[in-house]
Amino acid sequence: MQFKSNNLILLFYENIPMNIYKTQTELQSFISDKMPETVGFVPTMGALHDGHLELVKKALEENEVCVVSIFVNPTQFDNASDLKKYPRTLHKDAALLKQVSDKILVYAPDAKDLYGDKVQSAQFDFGPIAKEMEGAFRHGHFDGVGTVVSLLFDAVKPSAAYFGEKDFQQLQIIKKLVEIKQYDIRIVGCDIVREPSGLARSSRNTRLSALEFEKSTLIYKTLKHVKNQWNSLSIEELNQYVASMFSDQKMFDLEYFVIANEETLKTAHTKSKKDNYRAFIVVFVGDVRLIDNIYLGKG
Ligand code: PAF
Repeated sequence: MQFKSNNLILLFYENIPMNIYKTQTELQSFISDKMPETVGFVPTMGALHDGHLELVKKALEENEVCVVSIFVNPTQFDNASDLKKYPRTLHKDAALLKQVSDKILVYAPDAKDLYGDKVQSAQFDFGPIAKEMEGAFRHGHFDGVGTVVSLLFDAVKPSAAYFGEKDFQQLQIIKKLVEIKQYDIRIVGCDIVREPSGLARSSRNTRLSALEFEKSTLIYKTLKHVKNQWNSLSIEELNQYVASMFSDQKMFDLEYFVIANEETLKTAHTKSKKDNYRAFIVVFVGDVRLIDNIYLGKG
């Protein structure tokens, strides 16, 4: 029974005509025929959710052509099991995009089309922002992101590219990449999209059990509390509060909680009136790694 209904769903997806391009040559030949003034680009690793769709809607609003790439990039994973378990749902993704607009072009290459024969990272000097948080905990991650995003930019040739603020540090890295490679591409950061419970939307959420999904709202509740107490408590007191929230939780493993200067991303220990601050958190729920952040305000 289960088998039959799954097949029906697949059939349904397969019957929807979609603009899926497997190679950059095909994609470019279609785009160059249209001679658009602006191409908006949303790079993704698929398993699309409302957070992605908000980026796509903005790209559609602001550009003549909108391209969404779907590619699970091996060079940005430092953990083979995380890469293997990353959800891959191309047909469902394409069907979701089709509901938003049938004008969206989906670029879903294989590794060879992007990387050629050698699937490996280039090395970048993104400066101090790359050494903090994700840079410290995920070895080689930003070199992998920088590599694939520059390959994608070369393939798609966008005039603007859209990224969510859930990966706030990644967004700063991409801005730096554009500077280093001198791309003429406008980088647009978009607000975090949340579940009604406050949990940040993420492709990884699909790997949570119903109970884990429900309990993971603790992450956002903790961030909200930190924001509410920002003017009353010191950074040390806030750090202690967050550690205490996760210390006796069997379901969660707090990888890091950091209050950082929003511009330099350096960990802050004291507040300064002239700087803006943001709180960053990564929590493991079983083997699912969830990331979130919140703007706190000036010091
Ligand atoms: O944010 C993501 O989904 C990925 O890091 C990106 C930017 C698509 C590069 O693989």
